[in-house]
Amino acid sequence: MKLAELQRLEARWVMPTYKRGAVEFVRGEGPRLWDSEGREYLDFLTGISVCSVGHCHPAVVAAVREQAGVLMHASNLFLTEGGVRLAERICSSSLGGKAFLCNSGTEANECAIKLARKHAHGRGVEAPEIVVLEGAFHGRTMGSVSATPGMAANPSFAPYLPGFVAVPRDDPGALAAAVGERTAAVMLEPIQGETGVHVIGDAVVAAAREACDGAGALLVFDEIQTGMGRTGSLWAYEQLPARPDVITAAKALGGGMPVGACVAAPGVADTLQPGDHGSTFAGGPLIASAALAAFDVIDDPSLLRSVRELGGRLREGLEAMPGVSEVRGRGLMIAAELSGENAPELRDALLAEGLVVNATGPSTLRLLPPLVIGAGEVDAGLDVLGRVLG
Ligand SMILES: Cc1ncc(COP(=O)(O)O)c(C=O)c1O
Repeated sequence: MKLAELQRLEARWVMPTYKRGAVEFVRGEGPRLWDSEGREYLDFLTGISVCSVGHCHPAVVAAVREQAGVLMHASNLFLTEGGVRLAERICSSSLGGKAFLCNSGTEANECAIKLARKHAHGRGVEAPEIVVLEGAFHGRTMGSVSATPGMAANPSFAPYLPGFVAVPRDDPGALAAAVGERTAAVMLEPIQGETGVHVIGDAVVAAAREACDGAGALLVFDEIQTGMGRTGSLWAYEQLPARPDVITAAKALGGGMPVGACVAAPGVADTLQPGDHGSTFAGGPLIASAALAAFDVIDDPSLLRSVRELGGRLREGLEAMPGVSEVRGRGLMIAAELSGENAPELRDALLAEGLVVNATGPSTLRLLPPLVIGAGEVDAGLDVLGRVLG
């Protein structure tokens, strides 16, 4: 089917919630994508940090193919081994404790919000509050959207869930002052992804930990974008001065399949009890097989070293480019701030030249290449960027 025909059908049948690039991808392999006209692209976006193992990683494909022919779904009314093994793998690689598996990032955060509120009620807090950072993005279901100050300002979906308090993302004093007896949690992304790759400073992270300890509140890190190796350690918090009580994960966790998780440290791992939370699809054998295979690829010190090294190479290349005023990020989660407000035009020009990136704002390009990329591909991407930005 021609792209124009597909666009016509979409306009007729699909709710118009997305602005999409003018290309139909039909195939992916490693760091590359192909469109319906046979053109090849280097993918420096990976489905927004989902295909961190590259497109159609052979181990993930093999695991899914095998599991699909054995058992796809049995519901959470029964045990299946994959989901339990996946929970074990996520927890033992992070906080210990226990995991709730779900299907997406926003659901992982819904679980964290419920867990934090129940934990606060357990301390006798009647109307718990969650402190969040300006510039955050936590998802689009009603709890997560209420935790996302930029979106909770949109009157279209009011009233939002009460009990979220936003503070600037770079002010440890304001954060400490916002935490008090009613605080159930401080919730933050170690690096804010959707709003342009803003690294949260160590002083803010340390202040959040200290304030939570003082108030008996939980420190929740949304590692949906930063987790699974993206920043050069399996979890971004490993490079930070504080360990959270709860992390949420999704995106790259499933190697391309939809899966999320909320992990709670041992002291709070049993907060949610039977009947408190659930999901029909969550933790099923098919997505668990994909996620376990993705874990085998990413939880590898040499791969994580390469993420740090190639992240440095990409940053250096970008820093030397005309029109780039600032480069932010960690590992292979990088934003190039442009001197002009032409990021959307440049994104389209890069796509036309065979490089997939996205623009998170008028002057920001975001790069999230697959973690399995090689130095040659980083250089090839930089070549295209240099040509187009130049
Ligand atoms: C940090 C963060 N949290 C939550 C979400 C929501 O994830 P999902 O789109 O899977 O619901 C995203 C998605 O971009 C994200 O980057």
